Amino acid sequence: EKGGYDHFMLKEIHEQPDAVKKTLMELQDIKEMVENFPKFNRICFVACGTSYHASLVGKYLFEGLVGIPTDVLLASEFEFSAGALDEKTLAIFISQSGETADTLRALRMANETAQTLAIVNVLGSTATREADHVIYTRAGPEIGVAATKTYVSQLTCICLLALSMAGEEKLLEDIQHVPDHMKLALEAEDQIREIAKKYKDAEDFFFIGRGYSYPTAMEGALKLKEITYIHGEGYAAGELKHGPLALIDDDVPVVAVVPPGDSHDKTLGNLQEVKARGASVIALGSSDDEVLKSEAHEMIEFSGELNEVLSPIVYVVPLQLLSYHMSVERGIDPDKPKNLAKCVTVE
Ligand code: M6R
Repeated sequence: EKGGYDHFMLKEIHEQPDAVKKTLMELQDIKEMVENFPKFNRICFVACGTSYHASLVGKYLFEGLVGIPTDVLLASEFEFSAGALDEKTLAIFISQSGETADTLRALRMANETAQTLAIVNVLGSTATREADHVIYTRAGPEIGVAATKTYVSQLTCICLLALSMAGEEKLLEDIQHVPDHMKLALEAEDQIREIAKKYKDAEDFFFIGRGYSYPTAMEGALKLKEITYIHGEGYAAGELKHGPLALIDDDVPVVAVVPPGDSHDKTLGNLQEVKARGASVIALGSSDDEVLKSEAHEMIEFSGELNEVLSPIVYVVPLQLLSYHMSVERGIDPDKPKNLAKCVTVE
C-alpha cells in the first residue's frame, strides 16, 4: 500500500504533482461559486499548523491581487478576534481533516455572523457539513502525520479562489503548469539526500524568506521540528537583524527561499548577512540565478519560469524532502512522529 516507497510520507510527497492536477479540476466550480458571492469587504482565514501556513499565502494573494483586507488567525486564538467579524466578512477555514477541534469551534462561532467557506480534504467531514460553502482539495487520503500533498492542494485551491476573484486569467493559465514544475523539483531528491546526510546532526536550523516565500520558510521549519526533532525556526528574512541574528554562527545552517521576483534582492542581502556570521547557506532559487549560486554553500535549483505568486506550491517540495531524509538518517519513523496525531480532536 506504500506503492514501493519506504514510507507513506515519501509516497505522498511524490504524489504531489497529481494531487495538484486533481485540485486544478475544481476551477470551474470555484468560478461559479465566486460569481454568486456577494461583495465582501474582509477575508479572515482560520486554521492550525500546516493549514495555517497555507492560509498565510492566502493573505498575500487576497491583499496583493484581489485588494481585500485579509487576516489570518490561528484557530486556537480565534475567539479573541471573533467580535470583529460581520456579515460582509468571508471567513475561510482551511483543514485537511475537517475535524480539528479548534478549527470546528472557530467555525461554529463564525457561523453566527460571517459567511463561512471550508476548504477541506476529507469528504463529508464535520467542517464540510457546517460551513456555508465548501471546496474540496481532492488530494486523496493522506496517511503520514506530516501534511505534504494536502498542503500543496490547499495552496492550489486558495490560488484558484483568489485568482478567480481577481480575474487574473494569465495566472490561471500559468497555474496549469505547476504540476510540471513540481515534477522537476522532485528530481533534486538525490542531491537533497546528500544535503540531509551532511546536516543531520545540526541542533538548530533557520529558514528565511520574504513575502510569498515567508510561509514556505515557516512550513519548512515545521516539517523539520515535526519529523526530525531538530529545532527549526521560520523567520521573515527582514526580521533577522532585529534579534535572531545573535543566534547565527557556524553551527547553524540557514535555508534561504529566494525565488526570482520582487523579494529576491533583499533576501539575497539577508543571506549575505548570515553568511558573514559563518552560517552554512542552503539556497532555493532559479537555475539561472548565478549570483545566488555563487553565494550559497548548497543550491537547490528550479528550472523553468514560474511566477513568484505560484512559487510556494513548488518551493516547499525540496523542504519536505530535506526533512524526510534527515528524519530517516536520524533513525526516526517520519510517518509516526512522537507526541503527534494526524487529527487533533482536543482543544
Ligand atoms: O486537519 P487539519 O489541516 O485541520 O490539521 C491541522 C494541523 O494539525 C496539521 O496541519 C499539522 O500541523 C500537520 N501534521 C503538520 O504537518
